[in-house]
Amino acid sequence: MTERIKIALTKGRVEKQTLPLLEVAGLNVDPVYDKQRRLIFDLPDDPYTIILAKGPDVSTYLSNGAVDIGIVGSDILAEQQDDAYELLDLGIGKCQFILASTPDFNPKSTKRKVIGTKYPHITQEYFAKRGEDVEIIKIEGSVELAPLIGLADAIVDITETGTTLRENNLKIFDYLREVSTRVVVNPMSLKQHRNEIFDLVDRLEGAIKAKS
Ligand code: PRP
Repeated sequence: MTERIKIALTKGRVEKQTLPLLEVAGLNVDPVYDKQRRLIFDLPDDPYTIILAKGPDVSTYLSNGAVDIGIVGSDILAEQQDDAYELLDLGIGKCQFILASTPDFNPKSTKRKVIGTKYPHITQEYFAKRGEDVEIIKIEGSVELAPLIGLADAIVDITETGTTLRENNLKIFDYLREVSTRVVVNPMSLKQHRNEIFDLVDRLEGAIKAKS
């Protein structure tokens, strides 16, 4: 029997946009749609097992050999300065890294700024390039709250539709870089399961072309 290839798929936004693409690639992902509280799914018609994971954990599973493939946002990979082997940009889950705050924020102010973010490395790198020393406060979620409750002067976060910023009366002051969903692989798995992994990549490339 063929050994199953384990794919860590990031829960939430990435999962929602990746499942339809996997379907176009010909994979039967019905068990994942019907997941309830389950986390591991053997796909019925292919040698792949999907494991739902938190984004920052995908690299941990990959580097420890617990999974063979990861499907994760480039925001997470960039923040983790991860050298995981990237095989494919799925061209979905497109977001932007932004600097945002309340409309009265002055990005040119020389006062040492306090920045709230889930992405301290990206934030540090951005301000270092501008020659600015800032205080960074790491926040785990709902980063938009930080300038609203007086925790930070501004935030560095990702935005997709812009709805969260708009509904909280926050303004974008700068665009840092683009984000999209990537397929990454454990190099050891690539050696051991080259055919199955490249078969999946070929099918995903076909699905991306079919969609466009
Ligand atoms: C991200 C980000 C924003 C939101 C923006 O959070 O941190 O809060 O999405 O999306 P929008 O521009 O479409 O409104 P995510 O949904 O990944 O959840 P989290 O804060 O729990 O990490």
